[in-house]
Formats: sequence, C-alpha cells, structure tokens
Amino acid sequence: MSSSFTDRILFGGDYNPEQWPRKVWEEDMALMRQAGVNLATVGVFSWAMLEPTPGVYEFGWLDEVLDLLHANGIGVALATPTASTPPWMNHRWPETLPQNPDGTIRTYGSRNAYCPSSPVYREFADKISEALAARYAHHPALRMWHIGNEFGTVCHCDRCAARFRTWLQVRYGDLDGLNEAWGTAFWSQRYSEWAEVIPPRQVQYVINPTQDLDYQRFVSDLLLGGFVAERDIVRAHNPAIPVTTNFMGFFKGTDSWRWAREEDLVSVDIYPDPNDPDAARDGAMAHDLTRSLGGGKPWLLMEQSPAGAGWRHVATPKRPGLNRLWSMQAVARGADGVLHFQWRASMQGAERTHGAMVPHAGPDSRVFREVCQLGEQLARLGDVIGTRVTAEVAVLHDWDAWRAVELDHQPHSGFRYLDRMREYYTPLWRANITADFAHPEADLSTYKLVVVPNLYQVTDVAAANLVRYVERGGHLVMGPFSGVSDPDERIRLGGHPVPFRELLGLRIEEYWPLPDEPLTLESAELGDFTAATWAEWLTAEGATAVATFTSGPLSGIPAVLRNAYGEGTAWYVATLPEPAALARILASACAAAGAEPVLAGLPPRVEAIRRGDKVFLLNHEDESVEIRDL
Ligand code: GAL
Ligand code: ZN
Repeated sequence: MSSSFTDRILFGGDYNPEQWPRKVWEEDMALMRQAGVNLATVGVFSWAMLEPTPGVYEFGWLDEVLDLLHANGIGVALATPTASTPPWMNHRWPETLPQNPDGTIRTYGSRNAYCPSSPVYREFADKISEALAARYAHHPALRMWHIGNEFGTVCHCDRCAARFRTWLQVRYGDLDGLNEAWGTAFWSQRYSEWAEVIPPRQVQYVINPTQDLDYQRFVSDLLLGGFVAERDIVRAHNPAIPVTTNFMGFFKGTDSWRWAREEDLVSVDIYPDPNDPDAARDGAMAHDLTRSLGGGKPWLLMEQSPAGAGWRHVATPKRPGLNRLWSMQAVARGADGVLHFQWRASMQGAERTHGAMVPHAGPDSRVFREVCQLGEQLARLGDVIGTRVTAEVAVLHDWDAWRAVELDHQPHSGFRYLDRMREYYTPLWRANITADFAHPEADLSTYKLVVVPNLYQVTDVAAANLVRYVERGGHLVMGPFSGVSDPDERIRLGGHPVPFRELLGLRIEEYWPLPDEPLTLESAELGDFTAATWAEWLTAEGATAVATFTSGPLSGIPAVLRNAYGEGTAWYVATLPEPAALARILASACAAAGAEPVLAGLPPRVEAIRRGDKVFLLNHEDESVEIRDL
C-alpha cells in the first residue's frame, strides 16, 4: 500500500512573478510547460504586495497568477507571506522589530524583521493568513500550504522575556522548581520573583547554561506556536489541503522532531556545496533526516539551487548533471517531489546572483536545458510515488543533546555535535547501509543496529529505552561524551556515563580532551590506528577492550570497548578514531547485527538505495563506471 501527498512527482520551484512585468508571466508559463514543471511555490515574500497598507489587501495580481498557473496545468504551494514583514509594519509599530541579546534592534530592509511575540505582528500575520485562506483554500490550483519560510528568527525583547517566563512556569511549576533546575545556587543567581527572569542577554561572563538551553527550547516552541496558528487558520478553510513549512535539515534553532508532528508533510531546503567532496553525504544525511522526521512517509525537497547559491563565499555552480544526480538522490531517499529556489533568477534584490531554473542568460542556457531534462526524467518515475525506504540501522539524533553539548564551558570547544553525526553516518553511507535517524525515546525495536554518535545530554526515559533495546537483543554503538547530563543540564554523578555504565560495562573517571596531535592505539581486532581530540580515563567493568591507547597521557587505557548485555551487544568508542578505524568498528557492528548493505561490492562513491521495489544507483564520480552482475 502506498500513500502520498501527490500522484505525480512534483517538480518546480519558488515562483516570484511580482518581481516581473506581466509579459514575463506569459513566457514563464510557456517555459514551465516546456520544462515539465507541475508545482510552483508562490507568495513566500509577497506580504507588502498583498497588503500594501495596513488592512488593505490587493489580491488581484495573485488571482491572476493562480489562474494562469492553473490554466497551464501547474499546481501551487501557496505560502502565508509571514516570514517577511512589510516596511509599514516595522515603521508604524517599531515594537515588531526583533532585539539582539545586547539590546540593539535589527531593523527592516532585509527579511524576517519581526519579533515572534509581537501581538501586532501576530495579528497582521493571522489576518493575512485568514484572508488568503478564505480566498484560495478551494482554488483548483492549490496543492499545499507553505507556512512562513525557514522559521528561525530569534528575539530577546521584553515581550519575549514575558513569554519565556510563561513557558518556564509550565515547565517548572514554581520559582523553586526553576531555581532548582537552573542551579541558581551557583554565582548568586537565585531568583526571588518571576519578573527577574530574563532571556540570556549580553552578560559579563559565562551565562547560566540551563537558562541558555531553555531559551533555545523556548524559541523553537515559540516559533512553532506561530506555525500552528497559521496552520490552523488555513486548515479550517479546507482540511483536505496538506500543510508544511520548509525545514533546513540539521538546523539547530528548531527542534524538528516536535515540529514535524504538527505538519501534514515534511519538507526541507538543502544547499550542499558543489565544491565540497562530502556534499553528496550531506545531501543523503539531510534526506534521511527529513524522511525520518515524517516517520518514513514521502517528503518533499522544497528548495535546492539548480546552480550556485548566491550567499555562499564561493558560489560554485553545479557542474553538468549534478542537479539531476542530487535530485535523484532525494527521490531515492523518499522524496515525492523536487523543487528549487527559484524559478526565474531575480534581476534585483539581495539574491540577484542566486542560481535559478531560468538563469539571467534565459532559456538558451545549459541550466535551463538540464532543468528540462530533469523534468522529463522525473515524470517517468511516477511508480515510486508513495513507496518507502526501509532502514535496518538507526542513528540517534536529539536537538537537546546537540544544544547542550555545545553550551559554553564544555571541556573542548571544538567538540561539535554535527561533526560526530557526520563521522558516524559517513561509513554507513559509504557502505550503502541505509540508516534512519531516530529520537532517543523512539521505539527502536525494528532496527538491527542503533548508532549513537553523541548523546551528551539524555533523559532517563531515553537512557532506559537504549538499555532495554540492547537487553532485548539489539546491537548498539555509542560515541564519546555520552550520558553525561540530565535535561536540566545537571551533571550525573558517580562515574560516567551514569545511565549507561552497566550497559557499556565500564566506568569513566575523567574526560580528557586533547590537543589535535594524534595518539596511537593498538587493536588486534581492528588493526592499529590513530585518534585525536578526545579521550576518556576509564576502567572496564565487564566490557572487553577492543582497542587501547599506546601513546599519550592515557597510554594503556582502553578506548574502544564491547560489552555483552542482556541478549545484545553494546560498543563504546571513547575517542575520535581516524575515519578508516571508525569505519571498521561500524562494519564489525553491522556484520554482527546483520545489517546489510543495499548492494555490496560497488565501486567507491557509487550510492545504492532501495525504495519500494526499485534500486537507485548513483555515481558520484565524474567518470562513468560499469556495474555488472547485480
Ligand atoms: C532559502 C530561502 C529562500 C532563498 C534561498 C537562497 O534559505 O528559503 O528564500 O533565500 O535560501 O539559497
Ligand atoms: Zn521579542
């Protein structure tokens, strides 16, 4: 059984006709038809054109655009235009502007100039969403709602402070609860009244870590409130139209596990750097995350650049074929649509140099010809619609763990969460072992192997979940500096990692961040290797040492261990091994767990993904390769 939000692979991009005279619209329609475009994202930044003065709407031009698209057989993802306020709002109501931690104001003249707590902003945003929904919810071109754009605006104003206090009251009940959770006995920070509690603003020295962490959680929830408000408004007019907002993959500012639950379909914007040799891996990771956020359902690639991304330091274009390759990668990993930013390259404005499906050169261009080919090829993939990608491996990912491990005053400021994710994901990707991402509290029972690159902060529920998973026969590999703190960012005492000590069969006394000079390790099983940046002073308490340091201050101390626990096996990797060694660890864990590659023995950098009953093979090298005897 298959189900999807579409019955044909969606293909198209952001369409901003308000930047162009009418005669260009006619050309757009002809070119869209030529390219096989079937979905246009409209209205994302149209607020000032739709509501030129407060409360006065001008929908005439949008009526025309939607009718024109419809007449040409092109569907619409219609945006609520609330990501970018019109100047009249910020000018007449300066309190709508967002405030930085140092009290300065970010003004208008760009985009996203709003404080998410501003009642003026909220009221105008709700009203225009209502007006759009009332007018277009039953328009025959409408395929989906696109709420706002890339939510992520942070404000530190007094109104946000008040909302923060309300959020904290729900989380902690009373002020004693907050004082306890934030550890305010430290540095004389005890609060005596709620009014004293503020966002983390500019301070003399290091901010209270739990205050910092809670503000990050709060901002995500605050923005989510804005999404939900607009979603409910548009949904009320026609519940049959799916609602989404475009995520940014591994973006720290919003906890997408929480957000995805509120969406009808999950969509994502990704811009891997064509110059980066690891770009294909980054694409795969973002796709796998997006699919996982939706519980495996088909998802939508809402934005990618068909060429260069204008904001990049070096805006390298995509070489011939690359946009097709990366689009196919998205479809292979579960996307039922591939869209771009944007349809026609802007002539003016901040993004005037950004790549587009119709570049400045016009349709007589390599980019447009490739766009047409892609449209044609995607149209032939209709029978993958609604089919699923299944994974035997789960990589755990948690926004709280990410935020917490990157708070101030961690033992190594260069210890970056996403580096850990990439290090552990890469060998799986290279070996063509498909992985989902999973929340640490999720049901893991369907996975043969669970990989935990880093879980510095962990809830009791998540810890018990992992222990139970292994106890019942699961295989698990855990990376360093995991199981350290609780959700209040309270360090768990008595020898790390407190909630996993029995599971892993070891006890850590000290974390030992290192300068980048590599250390040597010996291992009969893995072969000798090097590691850097991080070590841990630990003692095995039941676990078998698989690799041991042979140089540096921890010489003689085990760094990779394996423990039989219940009916399963848990590995612990207490350092950052060189990539080849980490790949061997994961290969060994996969083999023991029975997690198989989609296809074995493929040439390097040939990616294989199974979706439904199809296998996609993607060659990430320039030279062609021949594959026989599959
Ligand atoms: C996205 C955004 C688009 C456009 C694009 C450029 O972040 O949603 O509106 O700015 O990037 O790469
Ligand atoms: Zn604010």
